[in-house]
Amino acid sequence: MKTIIEPFRIKSVEPIRMTSRTEREDLLKQSHYNLFGLKSDDVLIDLLTDSGTGAMSSAQWAAIMRGDESYAGSPSFDRFKAAIHNLMPFEHIIPTHQGRAAEAILFSIMGGVGRNIPNNTHFDTTRGNIEASGALAHDLVIAEGKDPANLHPFKGNMDLPRLEAYLAEYGDSVPCVMLTITNNAGGGQPVSLENIRAVSGIAHAHNKPFIIDGCRFAENAWFIKQREAGQADRSVSDITRDCFAVADGMTMSAKKDGFANIGGWLALNDDDLAEQARAKLIQTEGFPTYGGLAGRDLEAIAQGLSEIVDEDYLRYRIQTNEYIIERLDKIGVPVVKPAGGHAVFIDARKWLSHIPPLAYPGQALAAALYQVGGVRSCEIGTVMFGRQPDGPEIPAAMDLVRLAIPRRTYTQSHADYIIEAFGELAEEKDQLAGYEISWEPKLMRHFTCQFTPLDGMRQT
Ligand code: F0G
Repeated sequence: MKTIIEPFRIKSVEPIRMTSRTEREDLLKQSHYNLFGLKSDDVLIDLLTDSGTGAMSSAQWAAIMRGDESYAGSPSFDRFKAAIHNLMPFEHIIPTHQGRAAEAILFSIMGGVGRNIPNNTHFDTTRGNIEASGALAHDLVIAEGKDPANLHPFKGNMDLPRLEAYLAEYGDSVPCVMLTITNNAGGGQPVSLENIRAVSGIAHAHNKPFIIDGCRFAENAWFIKQREAGQADRSVSDITRDCFAVADGMTMSAKKDGFANIGGWLALNDDDLAEQARAKLIQTEGFPTYGGLAGRDLEAIAQGLSEIVDEDYLRYRIQTNEYIIERLDKIGVPVVKPAGGHAVFIDARKWLSHIPPLAYPGQALAAALYQVGGVRSCEIGTVMFGRQPDGPEIPAAMDLVRLAIPRRTYTQSHADYIIEAFGELAEEKDQLAGYEISWEPKLMRHFTCQFTPLDGMRQT
C-alpha cells in the first residue's frame, strides 16, 4: 500500500483557530516579524520546533498517574534510569529539566576561557552555553553536509581529517569531543555508526572524552538501519546501544526522541565529572533523583523511550518527511536532500537568491510562509548563527528554513496543506524583500530580535 497512514488512532484532539491572511499580516507586524513572538493560537500549523510538541500516548498519560513525587529516592527515577540504561549504558544518569540544562552543567565543568570544543555542528543552545562559559565552539561537519543538494547518506558525519588536525592544533585546550545525532543545525542529517566509532577512536587516541548530543538518537539509528551497509537486519534498539557504547557521556533533550513535553539528562561514565555535575545539579536543578523534573515527567520519559524505538512509528515519521520533500522538489522548491529526521529544510538562500544573506533570506521566507498559510517555521541561518562573539556579522554556512515536524501531532492532510502553501508562495517569492535587524540581544539573538522589512513595505 502506498498511502502513508499514521500508526495510531486519535483519542483526544485540540482545535486549531483559523485565521485570515490579513489578520496574519497584522499579527506578524505586531511581533516585529519575529515568529517566536507570535501566540501559538494565531498559528494554523506550528512547525517552529519538534521539541516538546509531540503527542503523548495513552500509555504515557497512564504512566504519569504513577509518578511518585518524593524529593529523594523516587521509584519514578528508577524507572527513568532503567529505560535509559536499556539503550544507553552510562554509569551516571543525571536528570535535568531539558537539554540545555544538561549542556549548562557540562560546560560549567568543561568550558571556560581558553577552551575549544569541536562538534559536527553545535546546536544554538550548545554553542550558547559554551560561549557563555568563555570557551569557543567549532563546527567540523563534512563538506557534503553544507551542500543542500548533495545526496550523501550521512551528511551529519564529522570530517575526520579536520578533527585530527583540530586536536593537533588545539591540544590541551580541548576538554572533550562532541557529536550531535542527528545534526539538527545542518539539516537533521544523520551520522553513520562507522563515523561515530571513528570519532570515538580519534577522541580516545587524544585522551579526550567523547560526548554525544543524543536528542534525536532514534531517528539517527533508523537512518543507520536504512542507509548503512550491514545494518538493515538489526533493530533500532541494538543500533542505538552500539552508538552510545563508544561514548563517555551524552547530553539529551527528552523533548525530542524522549517523546516527552519536557525533560532531559546528562549522562557520564567518569565518577569525578559526575560528582561535579551532581553538585551543580543540586545547586541549579534539584536533587539527583529528580533533577529539574516532576516524578510524573520521569515516568512519561521512561515510557516514551520504549515507544520511540518502535520501527512502525519511525518508518511513518521519516516517510512523511520524504513525502513533503518529494512534492516540494517537484514544484521547484529547493529542499535539503536526502530527507532529514525531524524536519524538512528549505534552502532559502537558493530559492530567494535575490535576497543577500545579510538581508536574511531565511527570515523573509519564514515570514512569508506564515502570511500565506499560517504555517510557523524557523530560520536556521544567518539570523541564528551570523553574529560572531568577537567580530563582524558574517553569513552562516547556509540559510535554511526549517519545518520541524512535531511527533504524532499532525496528519497527512496537514502535510498536503503545507505543500499547497508552498505552491502559493512560489507565485509570489520573487517579490519578497529582505529584512534588517532593528534590535538584538547579546546572545542567541534569533529568539527575541526585532526585524524591519528592508523596503518598509508589505512583504508579499
Ligand atoms: N541539542 C540539539 C541538537 C537540539 O536540537 C536542542 C534543542 C538542544 C540540544 C537543547 O535541548 O531544547 O531541551 O534545551 N532543539 C530545539 C529545536 C529547541 O527546536 O531544535 P532543549
